[in-house]
Amino acid sequence: MMAYTSAIVSTLFRACVFVFLEVIPIRFGKTVIPVLYFLYLLAVYFQQIPSTGHWKIKVQGPPTDGKSGEKKAGKQSTVVAVEPEVSLRNALYTLLYSTPSPIRKLRIANVVINTLLLAATVDFVVEPYFDDAKDVIYSRVGAVYPDAAKLVVRYPAENVTTNTVHIAWRPVDPLFGDDTVWRAGPVVELTQEDDWVGTVKLRGLWPSTDYEYRLQYSNGTTLPYPTAPIRFHTFPDPRLLSGSHFRFLASSCMTPNFPYMPFQGRRIKGFDLLADYLWHDKSSSLVVPSSDSEDGAQIFEQVSSAASELAETVSSLARSSVLDPLETAASSLTASAAPAPVNSTKPPAEFMIFMGDFIYADVPIYYGDDKEAYRRLYRRNYQSPSFRKVYERLPIIHTYDDHEIANNFAGKADDSTPPFPNASDAFRLYNAYANYDPPEDGQHYFDFHHGDAAFFVMDTRRYRSDVFTEDVTTRTMLGDKQLATLYDWLSKVNNTATFKFLVSSVPFTSLWQHDAQTDSWAGFPVEKAALLNALHSVPNVVILSGDRHEFAAIQYNAADAGHNVLELSTSPLSMFYIPLFRTLKSRSDEIVQRTKEVVTIGVDGVNRTTTVVEEVPQEEVVKYIATGNYKWSSIEVDTRDLDHPALHVETIIDGKEAFKLTVAGKPVDIKGTKAIISSVPASILDALGKIGLKPGRWF
Ligand SMILES: *[C@@H]1O[C@H](CO)[C@@H](O)[C@H](O)[C@H]1NC(C)=O
Ligand SMILES: *[C@@H]1O[C@H](CO)[C@@H](O)[C@H](O)[C@H]1NC(C)=O
Ligand SMILES: *[C@@H]1O[C@H](CO)[C@@H](O)[C@H](O)[C@H]1NC(C)=O
Ligand SMILES: *[C@@H]1O[C@H](CO)[C@@H](O)[C@H](O)[C@H]1NC(C)=O
Ligand SMILES: *[C@@H]1O[C@H](CO)[C@@H](O)[C@H](O)[C@H]1NC(C)=O
Ligand SMILES: *[C@@H]1O[C@H](CO)[C@@H](O)[C@H](O)[C@H]1NC(C)=O
Repeated sequence: MMAYTSAIVSTLFRACVFVFLEVIPIRFGKTVIPVLYFLYLLAVYFQQIPSTGHWKIKVQGPPTDGKSGEKKAGKQSTVVAVEPEVSLRNALYTLLYSTPSPIRKLRIANVVINTLLLAATVDFVVEPYFDDAKDVIYSRVGAVYPDAAKLVVRYPAENVTTNTVHIAWRPVDPLFGDDTVWRAGPVVELTQEDDWVGTVKLRGLWPSTDYEYRLQYSNGTTLPYPTAPIRFHTFPDPRLLSGSHFRFLASSCMTPNFPYMPFQGRRIKGFDLLADYLWHDKSSSLVVPSSDSEDGAQIFEQVSSAASELAETVSSLARSSVLDPLETAASSLTASAAPAPVNSTKPPAEFMIFMGDFIYADVPIYYGDDKEAYRRLYRRNYQSPSFRKVYERLPIIHTYDDHEIANNFAGKADDSTPPFPNASDAFRLYNAYANYDPPEDGQHYFDFHHGDAAFFVMDTRRYRSDVFTEDVTTRTMLGDKQLATLYDWLSKVNNTATFKFLVSSVPFTSLWQHDAQTDSWAGFPVEKAALLNALHSVPNVVILSGDRHEFAAIQYNAADAGHNVLELSTSPLSMFYIPLFRTLKSRSDEIVQRTKEVVTIGVDGVNRTTTVVEEVPQEEVVKYIATGNYKWSSIEVDTRDLDHPALHVETIIDGKEAFKLTVAGKPVDIKGTKAIISSVPASILDALGKIGLKPGRWF
């Protein structure tokens, strides 16, 4: 029995390491793994080594007890001639299960393997501490407006406490011809106090125009970074009521180098896959069918597979239409699939919404609540070459979730709740300052729009009450002020924007079980019900969420005359998913009633209309995909035909298309109303005047 203790402990140890590094970095792994390793060493030390001579003696006849066997083993261990007795199969078995072996080399190999596994675990856990990215230099674009953009710069300097970096910018649009003079932009004041990261707003830009910027010293010399100017594209003028056609991405949850690979500490594979998808995407590069027959065949294959997938989607939607009655959804689905794809090109992605768990402050280990512990994790992400490929080309806006602070954090509207002060300090510096300006300074919720699409990004952590102590009727997720701002926004965009995207870091649906019942909106049923009720009164609402490390599309069925609501919950971008356990219910117990008119043809040939009441679940799953370490959704908004606005959702999992959905929106008559923005930036009016366009034409 004792002989097999080491095998059992070793196998347990290896299983834990495997789970911790490749499946889920559960927090207690960091305790259990070293303990098991220590036990393993003890077991190895005390284990009885089967003697190589044992077999020989046995053949000769006289039995030996363990002791003499051991003795002989000691004496005979130099007899190399017996080694071939152990077959390759036995050797592998020994290496796999650490079963006691007479062969010293195999025993040593097992100790080495387990020690390496321990080293890998330690490497994964302490990596953020030792690779603290103190010197990381980077720049990225955050919020983009029709006439401005927010730029983030991190540029540490040596032996001083402040540094100044100048932005130089110019348009790269062909419209501007040879107008390539670099213009002086804002100056970024960087301080050691703020960890050398600063955000500035570049103003006075033209809508729908490509720009580039670089960084300079005050004397005009270009800084070594970035080696090539960073480009971005301004948002369209929302007053051009011609509809929108653009794409954006949504996802959440990431940790560098998980699942773990040795010597890949800075890799965030989800971003490698995303960069590949966005800029080396075969289907999007097939703009013009080339004469190459192979390409032609490829196009045909892609088109037909896309068409059949769409057909599949249509039939899978046969029970549940999304946003609109089934007929409309189906017809618009087929309409977009059937005709030859004259121009099936996806518009370029304009931005990404990162819905939280950008850092995991407490997974696998909590390094404390000081400023540096939080800042280090942000720097570490920006240091990642994988992430760099994306943030240098794609504007990213952020909300936070619990792991930017602490697991299942509830701020209770008290900003001094630890570790909120230091956690939000790092979030602001690295991610939030570059978001759209909040309605009130210091808030982390905000709204913005792109063309006729409106977005509201909620803060679901700072004001939420404690579900375990607060009564269900008085519980709040958003807090009074944010809730009022949200309702205000809803009524404003109701008839002025076609699609309305409501961004929540945690799922709005109550279908996720276990801790989602307290951590997501399910824990706030009163506030949720009231909000959902309001959402049903607004056409074309889509909720975007993350957090569950799974993908799901959820439909909220409206009662009569109401509008259905769709939720797309996408995560993780690059983190674990939960194996085996499935935690999403397929439909809610709550039902809504809908009256439906049914025409029956009587025997007399006279049609009779009868009204029937049908019951449908209030929330139901349209699609659920749990597996996959790397997930994001690409959402293409197409409102060029204002009478048939549509969304084309494409969810990519582990680099492959896993789900596709076309959502037929309802037309919103935004023509007769005031445009989304109440005040037109003077710079746009000036600019348009200069190129001879009279803004009056559009009013
Ligand atoms: C900063 O100080 C260190 C030691 O005092 C020195 O070796 C280094 O050259 C200094 N760096 C700069 C850029 O002045
Ligand atoms: C501008 O300033 C930087 C740093 O202060 C210096 O390295 C560079 O040589 C200067 N360039 C010119 C043209 O003076
Ligand atoms: C196809 O559509 C894209 C995006 O709307 C556009 O950029 C591109 O110019 C179009 N291509 C053709 C050949 O019409
Ligand atoms: C925040 O960080 C500072 C220094 O980094 C530390 O002194 C303080 O105790 C931390 N915690 C809180 C709640 O401020
Ligand atoms: C949206 O507008 C409709 C009428 O067009 C109205 O009935 C509904 O209450 C509005 N919803 C909100 C949240 O303002
Ligand atoms: C009765 O309904 C059928 C199909 O719904 C339609 O084809 C027919 O014309 C209707 N007949 C009358 C008398 O309205």
